[in-house]
Amino acid sequence: MRISRSFIDELMSRVDIVDLIDSYVSLRKTGQNFKACCPFHTEKTPSFTVSPDKQFYYCFGCGVHGSAIGFLMDYAHLDFMGAVHELASRIGMEVVYEQGGSTSPPVAVFDDLYQIMAQAAQYYRQQLRQSQVAIDYLKKRGLTGEIARDFGLGYAPQSWNNLLKLLGTDSEQRIRLLKTGLIKQNEAGHRYDHFRDRIMFPILDRRGRVIAFGGRLLVNKKNEPKYLNSPETPLFQKGHELYGWYLARKIRPLQKIIIVEGYMDVVALAQYGIRYAVATLGTAASREHLTQLFRSVPEIIFCFDGDEAGQKAAWRALETVLPFLQEGHQVNFVFLPQGYDPDDLVRQEGTQGFNSRLDQATPLSKFLFDTLTQQVDMNSLDGRARLVELAKPFLKRLPLGIYLDLILQQLSELTHVNLKNLATLIQKGEMSKSPFVKKKFQPIANFGELSLVHKAIVCLLHKPELSQSLEHPHEKLSNLKQQNIKLLLELIEFTRMNPKLTLGAICEHWRGTSFEQIINHLAAQNTHLTDINVNIDKVFFDAINRLYEDDANQRFMFLTQKITELTIEEKQELKSIMTLVSGK
Ligand code: GTP
Ligand code: MN
Repeated sequence: MRISRSFIDELMSRVDIVDLIDSYVSLRKTGQNFKACCPFHTEKTPSFTVSPDKQFYYCFGCGVHGSAIGFLMDYAHLDFMGAVHELASRIGMEVVYEQGGSTSPPVAVFDDLYQIMAQAAQYYRQQLRQSQVAIDYLKKRGLTGEIARDFGLGYAPQSWNNLLKLLGTDSEQRIRLLKTGLIKQNEAGHRYDHFRDRIMFPILDRRGRVIAFGGRLLVNKKNEPKYLNSPETPLFQKGHELYGWYLARKIRPLQKIIIVEGYMDVVALAQYGIRYAVATLGTAASREHLTQLFRSVPEIIFCFDGDEAGQKAAWRALETVLPFLQEGHQVNFVFLPQGYDPDDLVRQEGTQGFNSRLDQATPLSKFLFDTLTQQVDMNSLDGRARLVELAKPFLKRLPLGIYLDLILQQLSELTHVNLKNLATLIQKGEMSKSPFVKKKFQPIANFGELSLVHKAIVCLLHKPELSQSLEHPHEKLSNLKQQNIKLLLELIEFTRMNPKLTLGAICEHWRGTSFEQIINHLAAQNTHLTDINVNIDKVFFDAINRLYEDDANQRFMFLTQKITELTIEEKQELKSIMTLVSGK
């Protein structure tokens, strides 16, 4: 499902970026703009600027820039959908989706399902406060009341229909309970609570909403699983969610994330001050998980049991994470002593003890080569050649960059094979591309060096109303083939039809299209313009007039080439163009 473009336009015309950013970073008014110390890099004097007129932010220090949606994506680490929903809910708009390409009536956004999950979570929390057995269980496991509260832990009592009775007040509610997996229905059509006599761990999405639960039995039972998760629902996809991520993400600056296996591990580590652990929900770490995490942190530490199963799981994690290893990303592995999980260990060794294990974590490259060298005889030439063969498929999955260079270097040292030979062996042409495109800010080019088309675009981004005074721009620019001329034409059209556009709204309009990158790049240039305070109207019309001339010249060339075959109208046209061209 795509969000409709006209909805985004509408949304951007209603939100206020100053309100939004001010709710995260305290802004001070200076002149027409608002300022703060940049939340994206460390600085002592404020160079982070928010413009209410342009609905755009820009940092003169590090160059980050974007719209309200962009800010939520970069600062609050939401994805595009999440950012749009967040903004829409702030101003009470209902998100509108696109169906089959055309704009269409709004589609439900599951608000009712989120609501019932929140109600259930509240009910479970309240039940925990009233159940001595459950409180005793958590105490026995060493949890404090404080940490139970931080994670919103609850208790689902031993009953077949407590939740059903409380929340299933009418048929619509009962359908919601079924949809969210809170109640089940057997073949006879009988409905009952899914979670019974379990400690409840609410699973939050990236915006802190309850989307699922994990429930643990207080006493292990023969025919029941120790942990029971919510089924996959419209709100919950197991392979995408990480337990504890919402809380961990709030840490700033967030340097690393530990991936552990269990709910209890996350909670126990947090209790001991290690608040940056997350757990996958009974699955291996997926590409979606890693993409999410690497968007926010440079380092990931995988934590596994020391036993064979743990080694196997670690190897699988290594294989998944390879394509993510680009500059600035680090991956380490911690192998715990057999029979211990992080919960046990942090309680036994304390925060310091656990931290020193993290400090001594095994780098991915060491884990890779240690494992591979075990499979060959490193003392023989054959064995070393075999190591190169074994390593090849792994190296091929690494993106080009210094990480790969480093690993090749290590392989060269281990095998005594010349580095150059190794590099050709691995055939760079087939290298996989990193799935993670890091937003890199390109330094501002000298404005004078921009092409005419780009100059005109920058001016329009800066002052959209300029397009109103153009006469028949499309006719006069139709013959041009310059790079991004199509974008200029679209931009002229869009700004002429919507006179009150802001820069932020314009950027959002082209998000997800092939022009997204160039628009973003050029949007940053406009700040440069205000900075040197050029006469923007003049720059714009100079650029446009020269483009008109180029267009006329193109047509002139075309027509003179076929002058002998001209129709009467074309001869007329040629005449008028010649006056224009020679008039210059
Ligand atoms: P405690 O026994 O409470 O300390 O939990 P743990 O986290 O140490 O449990 P364990 O290491 O056995 O399991 C790790 C994770 O695997 C759990 O947090 C669950 O997500 C998942 N898991 C464990 N047992 C089950 C089960 O019986 N069913 C399901 N669906 N998941 C389980
Ligand atoms: Mn455990």
